[in-house]
Amino acid sequence: MAERIIYLDNAATSFPKPEIVHETVRDFYSQNGVNPGRTGCDLAINAEQMIHETRKQFSAFFNRSLIESGKEKDPNRLVFTMNATMSLNLIINGMIGPGDHVVTSMLEHNSVIRPVNHKVREGAEATYVVPDAEGYLDPEDIRKAIKRNTRLVIINHASNVTGVVQDLNSIGAICREEGVPFAVDTAQSAGVLPIDMTECHIDFLSFTGHKGLFGPTGTGGICVADDAEIRGTIYGGTGVRSAVPYHLEEYPYRLEAGTQNLAGIAGLNAGLTWVENKGLNTIYAHEMSLFEILQNGLSDIPGVTLWGTQNLDRRVATLSMTVNHYDASDVGTILDVDYGIQTRTGLHCAPLIHQHLGSVPRGTVRFSVGPFNTVEQIRTAIRAVAEIASDRP
Ligand SMILES: Cc1ncc(COP(=O)(O)O)c(C=O)c1O
Repeated sequence: MAERIIYLDNAATSFPKPEIVHETVRDFYSQNGVNPGRTGCDLAINAEQMIHETRKQFSAFFNRSLIESGKEKDPNRLVFTMNATMSLNLIINGMIGPGDHVVTSMLEHNSVIRPVNHKVREGAEATYVVPDAEGYLDPEDIRKAIKRNTRLVIINHASNVTGVVQDLNSIGAICREEGVPFAVDTAQSAGVLPIDMTECHIDFLSFTGHKGLFGPTGTGGICVADDAEIRGTIYGGTGVRSAVPYHLEEYPYRLEAGTQNLAGIAGLNAGLTWVENKGLNTIYAHEMSLFEILQNGLSDIPGVTLWGTQNLDRRVATLSMTVNHYDASDVGTILDVDYGIQTRTGLHCAPLIHQHLGSVPRGTVRFSVGPFNTVEQIRTAIRAVAEIASDRP
């Protein structure tokens, strides 16, 4: 990484990745880079074993209380995908058909909004629950939105625009009471905040590998609760029982087809191991201590507007801001070109929350802190924004 770059775009993807992730990808792939499950040779068995170990590792990570109570979680219900987008498509397509109703929210990423809208075009119905002014959903509003034909509630845990974190326990309890399956998009929270599928009554947990879990891009998955039901919607080769004319119903094949991202899954395993060794609390505390400095520093600058909640609890270390008289994309360009500071600008693939906050059509400048950021970098970013803002008071 160039010395001068200050990377504050960890909500897009975490960067840099821990060195152990690079080493594991290189070593595992160079030594065992064959097609798992397709042959019986030692290398293929090693590859299959690594994938299975990673299924177990992630099943345990998202089901801590179940495992600690001595119960089992079927690791085959941890399926790998290419990213959160593919996971969310598999969940929505597998649960919703014409005439069904889905409850979601205005906070969602296009990886939920678009597949839901496609379902609506094919005859389904959707309700987008409106959060409060700070971006929090009232769990009772989710209950009110549930109807007789509701087949799924799907919301994100943490917003990629404002960092606001939703109350999964209460929403999950409501879904369980109402008998509606509950899906959660943890793209911005997995590896950052503890998430327990049992405590939160989550039926389908979608994750991406390349953000807080520090895996390579092109990795992600779904953890399906052992009592949840979903249709498979991709079909193809699995490497087993090739004579069967239809795709296999059993997990993991029900939601997986084709050759797996072996190098990516090896890296994902290393990424989660790194997170667990460091400790979620330690990583979160570091990110939030820097975030507090950032938020306080930016809010003191005349002409700077912060969008969404300024709470320090129930949030992750991501914020959205704009500078008076500046287009968000110009601020991002100046930060990049003049200061070497990487942020993200625009609508961040989540147009409805910008509508709700009033930051349309141009969107915001998003800062997102990661574990490798330092106090000095944050102070440099604040000084840079102050200089930009003083140019056009
Ligand atoms: C909340 C949220 N959901 C889904 C996604 C999509 O993730 P991926 O790029 O891994 O498909 C993102 C990516 O930024 C996100 O922030």
